[in-house]
Amino acid sequence: MTDVQKGLEKVIALETKISYIDGERGLLEYRGININELVKLTFLEVSHLLIFGHLPNNDELEDFFNQMHDNRDIDDEVLNLLKICNFNIEGMDALRTIISYLSHCDQDLNDNSMTANIRKATKLIAKFPTIVAAFHRISELEDVIHPDPSLSHGANFLYMLKGFRPKDIEARIMETDFIISAEHELNASTFSARVTASTTSDIYSAIISGLGTLKGRLHGGARLAVMEMLDEIPSPDEAEKYTLDLISKKQRIMGFGHRVYKTHDPRGLIFKKLAIQIAKENKDMTWYDTAQKIENTVFQEIVEKKNKPIYPNVDFYAGVMYKYLEIPPLLATSVFAIGRIAGWLAHCIEQYGDNRLIRPRARYIGEHEIHLRK
Ligand code: CMC
Repeated sequence: MTDVQKGLEKVIALETKISYIDGERGLLEYRGININELVKLTFLEVSHLLIFGHLPNNDELEDFFNQMHDNRDIDDEVLNLLKICNFNIEGMDALRTIISYLSHCDQDLNDNSMTANIRKATKLIAKFPTIVAAFHRISELEDVIHPDPSLSHGANFLYMLKGFRPKDIEARIMETDFIISAEHELNASTFSARVTASTTSDIYSAIISGLGTLKGRLHGGARLAVMEMLDEIPSPDEAEKYTLDLISKKQRIMGFGHRVYKTHDPRGLIFKKLAIQIAKENKDMTWYDTAQKIENTVFQEIVEKKNKPIYPNVDFYAGVMYKYLEIPPLLATSVFAIGRIAGWLAHCIEQYGDNRLIRPRARYIGEHEIHLRK
């Protein structure tokens, strides 16, 4: 057996054509296209790229758009199920329950053919934002808002969440968030989803595995943790002391550090620019200034003094942007999932297409030859 790599660090578990990360140079590509180019597209174009392997031509895009539109609404059974959820749970918990229920209603549940999985993928991408928004409105005892086909995926989500059309900058930030969150190679939740798919289980089960894994605070749940941290800091003036306290107690600063990036996370850099734009637009620099002070303190105390590459990751400035967008913290990770579903689906489809059961080994370090007493 080979050496144990705790946390599977640097282990190459499979080959993929979906995305590429260069952690030393801070580079991310989906199907060969740099993330800085991808953010100029729409989330639907990027989802098509991830799932079908190429950007859509006009006819393909129109077809994909129409299928999204036809699948966005959720029916009364789903709304009734949301009404009996505990309203203090995270959006992730509600999503997990509803996706499980939706699988019961799918006549092709156990059909893992490409055609069936692409149909299911379209349905899941379309319904994720509607489920998250409806859960929030139901838990606030407000009317559920139906999707508006004239809006982009990002704008429509904010519209369904809040009940009014977002400003242009808000719509652009939401769309960019979904694009940037869509895919990131073999991150923990994508790995979970692929492991489930590799057993030939159905794609809904694989997505539920992904949801369960994304929720954790070392992964997508960091977005919620960042929002909580921002809420705990009374003003930008207190941010340095707050961060120094965490460092002196050897606690992790949420939204910092990454297993693969050893320099700036390119997604974090894009989000930081958007965070400053929305802060200026809202004429309220509070969250941005607080974040900037945390970042500066981490840089001085950890990057410079301890020579550790602990830079803001995708979740840090995403948490800041969510504060400005007034996204409820309990929804933060499920909003991440609205983007990431596209990557999970692309990976599951890739896995089904050239499958081998994913089954690593563990090195046994327990005792041997223990005999039962007679
Ligand atoms: N704050 C302070 N120190 C840190 C942090 C942090 N956020 N992250 C890593 N370190 C230190 C850690 O203490 C360790 O130091 P030492 O070598 O002296 O013991 C060193 O850096 C390496 O840490 P590690 O835990 O071995 O690194 P990892 O690759 O296993 O963990 C991580 C990666 C993302 C789990 C970790 O950086 C972390 O916990 N970050 C905070 C949570 C977070 O923001 N998660 C989001 C991850 S990226 C996007 C996503 O997946 O959603």
